[in-house]
Amino acid sequence: MRNNHVRNNHVRLNCGISVPLIGFGTYSFPYDRKTTELAVHTALEMGYRHFDTAKIYGSEAAVGTALNEAIHEGEIEREDIFLTSKLWGSDHHDPVSALKRTLENVGMEYLDLYLVHWPIKLKPWVNYPVPNEDDFEKLEFENTWAGMEKCLEMGLCRSVGVSNFSSKKIEWLLDFASTPPAVNQVEMHPMWRQGKLRETCGDHKVHVSAYSPLGGPGNAWGSTAVVHHPTIQSIALKHQATPAQVALQWGLSKGSSVIVKSFNPERMKENLGSFDLKLDYEDILKIEKLEEMKIMRGEFLVNESTSPYKTIEDLWDDEI
Ligand SMILES: NC(=O)c1ccc[n+]([C@@H]2O[C@H](COP(=O)([O-])OP(=O)(O)OC[C@H]3O[C@@H](n4cnc5c(N)ncnc54)[C@H](OP(=O)(O)O)[C@@H]3O)[C@@H](O)[C@H]2O)c1
Repeated sequence: MRNNHVRNNHVRLNCGISVPLIGFGTYSFPYDRKTTELAVHTALEMGYRHFDTAKIYGSEAAVGTALNEAIHEGEIEREDIFLTSKLWGSDHHDPVSALKRTLENVGMEYLDLYLVHWPIKLKPWVNYPVPNEDDFEKLEFENTWAGMEKCLEMGLCRSVGVSNFSSKKIEWLLDFASTPPAVNQVEMHPMWRQGKLRETCGDHKVHVSAYSPLGGPGNAWGSTAVVHHPTIQSIALKHQATPAQVALQWGLSKGSSVIVKSFNPERMKENLGSFDLKLDYEDILKIEKLEEMKIMRGEFLVNESTSPYKTIEDLWDDEI
């Protein structure tokens, strides 16, 4: 298997381990196991080494099967892969058991990163992405985080982190955490730039990882606004690059890792090509001036009675 330049582009986390800067997203809808396995094999061939899955995506088993096949065939070593999965809201009661089930799904002895998917606790049977009004429980995040720390102590993962946390929630977590989160995985792209969050996380050495770095074009809930934006298109034209490469390089230029999903070999290759693009200072300035637009707003986690968040502003602590 070819050694691609991707392997040499890493960022070091506060816990000392390194993450390849371009991650391969594995959420797809509708989900198809064989398609996902094939995509992971193709990604490995091209040089992707960082894979992002989650219990709620249903893709853990497919990702694990493809990775294990490649390891078994001697194409790659386990240590060369960075594998992330996420704790769903229904598992806040017991992160250790949840991670053990995830490890069974992926067929691995450890994950490289285990993230709390959302700051939301759900009843233990809620194994679906859009909770009903009576599915919410009181968030007792001190307990959830103690469980995440236990996962780390037990060697079930090499690092722990959070996802969809605002600046305020990061600072709140840092107040009681024995182990600080290594990563906050959040929506971030040229039209949702996360300026304040990047500053807060930077101050506390929490790495910001960008999900939906293209704005999720093609996703039912996503948008083509980023890749179709005239400014992004004109920057792409100027550098003989593509709009997706501009969006990804912008994220990389901010020091973030980018978790991009494509199961199309041409676009998978195109996305890796973002490493070769150099944006000029004026390109970055133009992007800083774009209108902001949050795409994954999390309406499905907000209600006036049972959710800890009565409004979207509550969920994001007014950072929306
Ligand atoms: N922590 C969280 O709450 C959270 C939330 C959302 C996502 N994520 C993670 O982040 C990953 C990426 O996010 P995402 O899938 O929402 O958004 P994304 O990577 O911004 O966009 C993915 C979509 O863009 C298309 N695409 C990929 N490369 C392209 C290119 N070069 N040009 C044009 N279109 C392109 C893909 O279609 P094709 O496959 O057909 O190329 C797919 O429909 C997910 O798979 C998941 O692992 C995490």
